[in-house]
This record gives sequence, C-alpha cells and structure tokens, in this order.
Amino acid sequence: MAIRQVLRMGDARLLKVSEPVSDFSALQELLADMRDTMKALNGAGLAAPQIGISLRVVIFGVPEQKNPRYPDAEAVPETVLVNPVIATVNDEMAEDWEGCLSVPGMCGLVLRHNAIRYQGYDEYGALIDRTVSGFHARVVQHECDHLDGILYPMRIRDLGNFGFRDVLFPNSTAQDE
Ligand code: NI
Repeated sequence: MAIRQVLRMGDARLLKVSEPVSDFSALQELLADMRDTMKALNGAGLAAPQIGISLRVVIFGVPEQKNPRYPDAEAVPETVLVNPVIATVNDEMAEDWEGCLSVPGMCGLVLRHNAIRYQGYDEYGALIDRTVSGFHARVVQHECDHLDGILYPMRIRDLGNFGFRDVLFPNSTAQDE
C-alpha cells in the first residue's frame, strides 16, 4: 500500500489502450495503491493507467457532503470497476467542467452523455450493472476514457473553455478525476 505518483499529461503511458483484467486475484495491491493515491490527492476518481498500470481498472466515489472540495456534487458510491463497458441510454448530452489528477491545476468544459448504463466487475468478480446520470455518469465516462488513452482536454470542443481552475473559478472546491 502506497501513495503512487500520478502520471501527468505528456507521458506516453497515458495514451495507451489498457489491457483487460483476467486475474482478479492480483488486483488487491493495485487497488490499495489506487485508493491511497486518490485519497491523498482528494480525487473523485482514478484509473490504473494514471499510476502507470495498463489495466482496465478504475475507482471512483464521492461521499455525501463529506468532501470539502466539491460541496455541490451528488454522492457517488465508492466503486471499483474492472473491464467496464459503457452504453448510452438516450441522445441527451450535457456540458460541464472537469479536472483530472493527470492535468493538475487545469479544468475544461467537456460534452458527455448525460445518462449511461455501465457494466463491469467489482474487485471480487461480481457483476456491476448500473444506469446513472449527471455527475455520476460524467465521472464514469471520464475514468473509462483513461482506459482508452483519452484525456479530457482531447474532448474540449472550444479551447476558450480550458484554463487554470484558480483563474476560471477563484472559489472553486471541485475535485479532479
Ligand atoms: Ni482523469
């Protein structure tokens, strides 16, 4: 268990497509490190490739009104998601600001599906199947993008909506993902 260094944008490892997990018994150490790292950086989510592990594993979670950096966020259950698959449930899109632990200090306006169904496995191999919307759906889409080598700045349609968080939002308490 250790707080690991989070790779920053520009590192070629963040652009790789990660491999599916086949051996769930080998996940515990990775997940312990991911949890420690996300907690230490007060993140809302973290994907394995962000700590240099090219496996299709993400974690995310925002406790109810607990996080001082994101008081407006809806609660998102603490989740380990392995080998995720995302499906859209309708055509509705939504734009909102995102940050990322691999792009520290920055934020940008990103268009995402407002509602998704996601499936995958927890750390014990049990099936997860949820249909969600809003912030929860955004976090999952952001994390799963990391598994395909996509960082949120690549999805910003107008780079006029990209900048330093403390300049754009001097009072922001938002979390990075
Ligand atoms: Ni991220």
